[in-house]
Parts: sequence; C-alpha cells; structure tokens
Amino acid sequence: MTQQTSKIPISSIILDEDIYPRKGIDHKRVAIFSENIRDGFRFDPIEVEPCPDRPGWYRLLDGAHRWSAFKSTGVEEVEAIIKDLDGNDPLLYAAKKAIGPRQLTEDESRDTARRAYSGNASLSSVDIGKAIGRARRTVDSYIADLRAVNQMGLDIKIFRMNRLGIPQDRIAERLGLARTSFQYHLPKMATLPDSANGDLASGFTVAQVAQKHGWADPMVWSLALEGKNDHDRFKELGWGFCTWDNLKVTRKWEWNDCDKQFGDDWPGRIPAQLIAHILRYFTKPDDLVLDPMAGGGVTPDACLALGRRCWAFDMMDRPETRPEIEPFTWDISSDQGLLWPVSAKEKPDLVIFDPPYFDKKADSYDKKSISGLSRKAYLEFLEAFFILLKLNVKKKTRLAFINADWRDFQNTSAAEEKYKGGILIDDYIDILKRTGWYHTHIIQAPISSQRFNAGVVCAMQKKNILGVISRYVIILGTYH
Ligand SMILES: C[S@@+](CC[C@H](N)C(=O)[O-])C[C@H]1O[C@@H](n2cnc3c(N)ncnc32)[C@H](O)[C@@H]1O
Repeated sequence: MTQQTSKIPISSIILDEDIYPRKGIDHKRVAIFSENIRDGFRFDPIEVEPCPDRPGWYRLLDGAHRWSAFKSTGVEEVEAIIKDLDGNDPLLYAAKKAIGPRQLTEDESRDTARRAYSGNASLSSVDIGKAIGRARRTVDSYIADLRAVNQMGLDIKIFRMNRLGIPQDRIAERLGLARTSFQYHLPKMATLPDSANGDLASGFTVAQVAQKHGWADPMVWSLALEGKNDHDRFKELGWGFCTWDNLKVTRKWEWNDCDKQFGDDWPGRIPAQLIAHILRYFTKPDDLVLDPMAGGGVTPDACLALGRRCWAFDMMDRPETRPEIEPFTWDISSDQGLLWPVSAKEKPDLVIFDPPYFDKKADSYDKKSISGLSRKAYLEFLEAFFILLKLNVKKKTRLAFINADWRDFQNTSAAEEKYKGGILIDDYIDILKRTGWYHTHIIQAPISSQRFNAGVVCAMQKKNILGVISRYVIILGTYH
C-alpha cells in the first residue's frame, strides 16, 4: 500500500534522541547518500511524527541518514510520510524501521529495550523483541533488573490503593493490570509491610523508614499509627487539636504552614491538619471519604494517617506518583451532562469538596478546569454538581465544602468593589440550600496571611485595598 507523502521543510524536522534507537549517525553512510542525491538518485520518503510538545515540528521515525544527507546537500524541503502512531511506542517503531537495512548492535538493542520498558512498563518482552529483532528471553535478560524494581513499585501502589479502600477492579484498571496478573500480586500484600513494620518496632522514625524503603511518609504513618485512636494519632503527628470553631483564646483552624509530609506542592493546597480536623469531627475510622477534586492528594494522605478509606478524583492524571487519584473530569457541557465517576454501590460517608475558588489560580490549572468558567457558568456548575452529589450519597452523608469569598480586590479599593462581580459565601449557601443541602456548621479556617510580603501589604494599604484571607469549611447534610 502506498502511503501519502507531504513536502515539509527540512528545518522543521528534528532527530529526537529519546526515540532514536542507534548510538549515533554513521557519517560514512551519510556521505554516500549525499553523493547519491547529487547524482539524482531518488530515495524512499522519510517517516516523521508531529513533536508531542512542539507544535509545527516533526521528529524522525525513519530515515535519519537520508535526512542528514539532504541537509548536507542544502535541500530545503523533503518528501515525508507523517505518521500517527495511535499510541504505539515511537522508540520501538523507530527501532523496527531501523533494523530493516541494518541490525542494531548488541549495545543498541539492550539500550533500546531498556529505554522502551522504562518509558512504558506495560510493554511485554515479546513486543519489545519483535521491534528490535531479538528473542523474548534476550529481552528478559536486558530488562530483568528494571522489571524487579517496577514490580516492587507496582506492589506498593496496589498496597496503597487497597489500604484506601479502592475496589480491586478499579485498582486493576488504573494500573493497567489484567485480572489474572492482579490476582498474582494480591497474596504479597499481607507481608509487604513486614520489613517497614520491623524497622518502626526497632525505633526508627517514620521519616527514616520512609526514606529507607522508598515509601511516601503517609503510607508509613498509616502503619505506624495502626490500631491507635484519633486522639493518639493527632498527638503522634504533632497536630494540636482545636476544640473551638474559631476563638482568639485558643487555637483556631488556622495553620501558617501545610504539614509537608502530606499532599504535594500543588496550587491551592490545603493543610493536612485542616482535612484531619474535618475527618476527626465528622467521620469514624474506616469510613469512606470521597474527594472529587483532590489536586495534590492531601485528602488521601490524611485518610491514610487517620485510618479512613478514600476515593479521590481529579482531572490531572498522575499515575506514577498518585495512582490513588483516579483521573476524572467533571464536565457539565458533555453530551450526557454531569456524570458520576464510579458505578460502585457503596456510597461515601463524607465528601470533602475543595474546588478552585472561582478563577483564583486559573492559570495554574488545566484549561478545562472549572476555574476557567465565567462567574455564571461556575455557579451553574456548582448547582449541577450539588444536585448530582445528593443523588449519589446516603441519608447520613456529610459534605465538607471548602471555599472563600471571592472579591475582585486585587487593584480596587474596598469602597469601589462592585457587588455584582463577587461570589460570597452566602451565594454558595443559597445554591446549597436550593439543591437540598443544609448546613450545620460554618467553620472559619483562614488562609495564612504570611504569603503576602511586606511590599504587597504596603501597596494594598496605600490604596485602601481590603484583601481576602478568610476561608470557610461549611459542613452540610441532606436531611432537614
Ligand atoms: C483547590 S484544588 C484542590 C487542592 C487540594 N485540596 C489539595 O490540597 O491539594 C482544585 C482542583 O480541582 C481540579 N479541577 C478543576 N476543575 C476540574 C474538573 N472539571 N474536573 C476535575 N477536576 C477539576 C484541579 O485540577 C485542582 O487540582
């Protein structure tokens, strides 16, 4: 079958070493090709694919020597087949093409196999072998050590997701495992924490054990605190417990800094201590918590530390570092309208909902984030979301809705702020009531003011700007 070719500028094509299977260009071969071109010899078209992160550029899949020869003879445009690999591994595709005219050397095969497997651990030795022209066993020997490390990583991911109460079918799907290979990992779960537990019992700290075993701190906390009650867990974590919603005489729900062991450095990250207080007051051990926009993962991390189960979702997909946050985009404009992410029968005991506070941080989130919506569309989204939520919870489920007044104060003195542009906390409460959610608590949990530097504060004072650091945790239920 002849494939369609296009003429593309040679200057828009690059040799991307990440997907080039050979150790380097053979300059003798390039010199022969250049001579052939000058003699009027016609070559087969080269093959390229669009560069994933450089619009308008192409990277070579096949024909590095022909491309080099064209460049050296001053040709400006070259005949090329622009491929859509449709998810196939570009390095392996390039390798398969490369071995047509000349086998890869032993070094090149080994290196290509290892790079391909490191980039995509679900590739089988057979698939890699077919692309590089080597037997499955040879490939097995090339990647044995990588596979061992990866298996360990996989077991830890399964352990973590299992501990958070994510159903097995969703774990298998998330990790790209067939049911049979998933069953093979399960028996290992019982003994996986033995070594870390042994170190904890010998007096090593959580941080030391986490470092030694390459586990995240919250996982080790979940082992270290197993069997303890909430009060003792708070004590060991060094999180003072707030007895009041907000009083000057005692601790407030206010933390100047996030506990950096929990959650990632994420735009709009909230302190784990805040989530832990919600969990302690409004759930019991082993309850199921749902976080529909989990961001940097502070809710699942706090749930690990306090022995709660957690289903977390976010539009940002980070399978390697946050397998427990399942990718899901809440999209009101889709054909079917807003959908619920899971078909599980079990319903959450608590929902912790910390959405983007209107367009604050819109630049930091994905283009499809609800922070990119107009004020009207943002409020409509919330209304549709709360209706859907009510349909998917139990009678006794609580909702902890975290948000702040949104006022356009950035460059405007307080007296000039317009009523119409803002979204205040009572606007949210109106929507919540309209959708059948009734609040029992409005807890003040201010954002730290320490993030404003002296220069910013001085400029605000000169212009009579009244900033916003108030943030609220509104606790609601669907009962009357
Ligand atoms: C305020 S952040 C959550 C921060 C989180 N509580 C933490 O402490 O790390 C809001 C999150 O909502 C997510 N988000 C925004 N619009 C979304 C949508 N339509 N569907 C799914 N996630 C969305 C963003 O990716 C972002 O991670």
